[in-house]
Amino acid sequence: MNRIFSGVQPTGNLHLGNYLGAIRNWVALQGDFDCIFCVVDMHAITLWQDPKDLVHNTREVAAAMIASGVDPERNIIFNQSQVSGHAELAWIFNCVARVGWLNRMTQFKEKAGKNRENASVGLYAYPNLMAADILLYKATHVPVGEDQKQHLELTRDIAIKFNNDFGVELFPVVEPLIFGAATRVMSLKDGSKKMSKSDPSELSRITMTDDADAIAKKIRKARTDPDPLPGIPDGLDGRPEAANLAGIFAALSDRTVADVLGEYDGAPFSRFKTDLSDLAVAKLAPIGDEMRRLMADTAYVDGLLTAGAAKARDIAAPILAEVKKVVGFLGA
Ligand code: TYM
Repeated sequence: MNRIFSGVQPTGNLHLGNYLGAIRNWVALQGDFDCIFCVVDMHAITLWQDPKDLVHNTREVAAAMIASGVDPERNIIFNQSQVSGHAELAWIFNCVARVGWLNRMTQFKEKAGKNRENASVGLYAYPNLMAADILLYKATHVPVGEDQKQHLELTRDIAIKFNNDFGVELFPVVEPLIFGAATRVMSLKDGSKKMSKSDPSELSRITMTDDADAIAKKIRKARTDPDPLPGIPDGLDGRPEAANLAGIFAALSDRTVADVLGEYDGAPFSRFKTDLSDLAVAKLAPIGDEMRRLMADTAYVDGLLTAGAAKARDIAAPILAEVKKVVGFLGA
């Protein structure tokens, strides 16, 4: 069976983009793949995290996965730092990947901002750790949002270079799985910016723990343009806010954008937003409630992550041993 690996950073403010671009798709894929879902706490610390928040946010991501419908019995859910193989393989990949490759990573440029000299070395080497996450399990498919595409291309390059350098066929060349009507959910306040955990405006994102009132308010206040909705997707050209809301509507209702626009052809945003708000509340509020219920039982969540880590270690151990042997590291 093909294997999936994917991850979410526990950096707080889990939002609709994380849900529609990633977690929701994982739910659809489980059963057809052997799945490993990871709370990537080692990635999170590439930017400063308060330790107490990191613990809380790690549990919250695990709760979000389970509340969204990822079955912890059938799939592995764990936090990255409990499996030391991620760090070990990342070091080897630090010596495979080229500085020129990392210099091209747009996410580093965005996250480091103007003060690049002051960014952590971890933030720079981040994509190598991500490649290690995936290849430590020889995963073949990686379901993510659009923004991770470049990192997955680097993962492919690392796998190919490792195999070539050592004359082996050890690592698979992974396939990104980027699908659905909302692979890149944009800010509700600015259709040219990605919805993100770190946007200072709370109104820019719907979080997975927002209650019905908060969801309704954010959709009501979402930026739009003065024209009514078009009847076909071509009519969304040059209208990023309208395109974003139509994509969100389509993804939440499991329809195509064309289908949604067919229904709302010529409708004013006021009506569309009311319906979108009802839809979002119906889909997200039960997930938020379940997340809160799970978060109240930290022993359950922690136990699940520890049990998941043990299963992950069992898969990783022989693969890491094989890699070390190929590299020429003496040992068992
Ligand atoms: P992270 O934590 O930023 O995001 C988690 C997942 O959510 C998707 N996503 C979005 N999708 C649509 N619209 C958006 N606005 C949006 N924002 C985020 C991301 O594409 C991602 O799928 N580097 C990864 C975490 C990671 C990982 C991995 C993923 C570490 N190791 C190995 C896959 C495989 C990240 O920062 O995701």
